[in-house]
Amino acid sequence: MSAEKTNQSWGGRFSEPVDAFVARFTASVDFDKRLYRHDIMGSIAHATMLEQAGVLSIAERDAIIDGLTQIQAEIEAGQFDWRVDLEDVHMNIEARLTDRIGITGKKLHTGRSRNDQVATDIRLWLRDEIDAILAEITRLQEGLLAQAEQHAEVIMPGFTHLQTAQPVSFGHHLLAWFEMLSRDHERLVDCRKRVNRMPLGSAALAGTTYPIQREITCRLLGFEAIGGNSLDGVSDRDFAIEFCAAASLAMMHLSRFSEELVLWTSAQFNFIELPDRFCTGSSIMPQKKNPDVPELVRGKSGRVFGALTGLLTLMKGQPLAYNKDNQEDKEPLFDAADTLRDSLRAFADMVPAIRPRVEVMREAARRGFSTATDLADYLVRKGLPFRDCHEIVGHAVKYGVQSGKDLAEMSLDELRQFSDQITDDVFAVLTLEGSVNARDHIGGTAPAQVRAAVARGKALLAAR
Ligand code: ARG
Repeated sequence: MSAEKTNQSWGGRFSEPVDAFVARFTASVDFDKRLYRHDIMGSIAHATMLEQAGVLSIAERDAIIDGLTQIQAEIEAGQFDWRVDLEDVHMNIEARLTDRIGITGKKLHTGRSRNDQVATDIRLWLRDEIDAILAEITRLQEGLLAQAEQHAEVIMPGFTHLQTAQPVSFGHHLLAWFEMLSRDHERLVDCRKRVNRMPLGSAALAGTTYPIQREITCRLLGFEAIGGNSLDGVSDRDFAIEFCAAASLAMMHLSRFSEELVLWTSAQFNFIELPDRFCTGSSIMPQKKNPDVPELVRGKSGRVFGALTGLLTLMKGQPLAYNKDNQEDKEPLFDAADTLRDSLRAFADMVPAIRPRVEVMREAARRGFSTATDLADYLVRKGLPFRDCHEIVGHAVKYGVQSGKDLAEMSLDELRQFSDQITDDVFAVLTLEGSVNARDHIGGTAPAQVRAAVARGKALLAAR
């Protein structure tokens, strides 16, 4: 059997070539080639360490680093010939290195396995992705703060059960999204710590007989810590699952946000205007302007939840240490990161362009008896027990529904039918401003509190 017919990296013990379909079926290069930059980064660090450990000569190290640097340039220039028969990104790059620099290229893999190599590559890649995602979260949060500050005094109906509940500041409503994104940011920062631990040096599963110095590669690659167990090092994918869990929560938040934008842009709500550049039309209905960006983001959340479920299922029941199953970790992880990053980018671009229709929101808040709780609280202050007040106001609302009048539109005499405790100071609490301003505590909807929350938010972002 000629050497060319079996894979040169592991073909020694084989007596027939791998079946052509099996070669394609088991190959990962079509998707893992996107790890090339991190693969080369890991290899350069490994070669640098091997020289310091006395395993490679200086000349060998330099030839390897030079060769890898040129391969990176080839890949980036689109001149690299990716070969499926070479299975994955690691063996494609290694084979090319040997083409370029000869026999020294074959020394790069000393004291290393693809098992610790791929685990290292994914962590390096994910670390960069997390950093880019964190930056998009911050950009979106900046947009929310600016909108909240500008619209602290704009009043809209707040909802429970999607029924008008109490008036709130539009800025306050937007800051609810800010809070969710702050937690998403925190979670990803925390997840990054566990992504940033180094498996390199675990080799295939048991470590290596060469005098490797893992502190050196750890420092060169900017890892925060060295994985403490080689079996765990090559097989652990917790960090990828954790990332997908954090990404799922973030996408769930964006899907809720999306749903509100879809509702608010509908003719029935008409609360906001989304600029045309974030919408598309219909090929049949000329009047349509569809909120495609929020709809798509709402839909894309499903892909990320799928990635989380997929990775948990992938890992469940795997015995130690590395198994080929793990090659299936990449596509869901890549897709989850791409989807979250793109969705955040779309939102960060779109949020500053949202324009509230102030009068429509105000009218909606005025219509739905949104100050009924304020009237009950007013009667409590006059000395009545809350349960009785609830009932009194219930009667007033019933009368309002029948007569088509909101509470603030009723005359004093009309209101006094329900309680003689009501006097003409009642109108101050029945206005939207009165209602909103009265909720004047940390986390409340009073415009002064919204501005205080914006200030806290700005300080939070400045400290990142
Ligand atoms: N392409 C493989 C993966 O993604 C690399 C590691 C392969 N290791 C092995 N022993 N076959 O997991």
